[in-house]
Amino acid sequence: MSFREPVAPTLAPQAGRESNPNPSLRVSGETQRPAPRGSALNAAGGRAAARTGEGHRPFVVAIDGPAASGKGTLARRLAERFGLAHLDTGALYRATAVLVLEEAGDPADPATAEAAARRIEPLLLSDPRLRGDAVAEAASVVAAIPEVRRTLLAWQSDFARHPPAPARGAVLDGRDIGTVVCPAADVKLFVTATTEARALRRVKELREQGAEAIYENVLQDLKTRDARDSERRAAPLAVAPDAELIDTTTLDADAVFERAVRLIAGTLEEREWQQ
Ligand code: C5P
Repeated sequence: MSFREPVAPTLAPQAGRESNPNPSLRVSGETQRPAPRGSALNAAGGRAAARTGEGHRPFVVAIDGPAASGKGTLARRLAERFGLAHLDTGALYRATAVLVLEEAGDPADPATAEAAARRIEPLLLSDPRLRGDAVAEAASVVAAIPEVRRTLLAWQSDFARHPPAPARGAVLDGRDIGTVVCPAADVKLFVTATTEARALRRVKELREQGAEAIYENVLQDLKTRDARDSERRAAPLAVAPDAELIDTTTLDADAVFERAVRLIAGTLEEREWQQ
């Protein structure tokens, strides 16, 4: 598949809120702990860790990519390794979809979808219902609505600017993090793989969970969702010009993780020298 050339952000981050609106949000369990001992933050950036505390801009890692590219797992592992908070931004769109579907509403209706986006509670983000295929499909429908994106943008940019303590920074993964939500992120990664490789992974994952999965159906669902995410007018899936592209088609998760760790550790070191 191909992704659009980087586009100018269509939604400006909303200013105004002073602190993370969701301090109780359970962002990856690890994020509530200080940077793990021996982590690259300590090893490569111990002083950087201290400097990113009070009075310093949080360190932000933006990870974008299509469905089933492995970006979610990578984001969680990186957050744990570097003691950063993690926000799976897809969960916000999925939660919006769950609320719409719960009321038998139409996910394509802007007023219904926007009202649902405003009602999201932090607890909903870890609801198992978010993981269903019908919800994924509806999520990509609500995600194409500019009013929904605007509502959820405030949540995401606040999280990046004010990660829950004690994290000194944040990892956000999604579709438009490097282009719209956090255009000034310290590190931007775009994680991708061929549609076929992603479909195979998704089938394996579903079967491991005991669900039935037919490769052709999963492949078709991914193609539909990729097309909708890449072709929409509002903040489409796109590679930021300054993003590091990581093609995971022939790389295993550990190799991808190590490559990202090296990149982040290097940036942390540079940032330390600049401060
Ligand atoms: O990443 P995940 O598969 O959970 O995302 C579900 C849907 O939410 C995506 O297909 C996409 O339409 C939407 N999304 C988005 N922007 C983000 C994250 C997710 O449009 N930053």
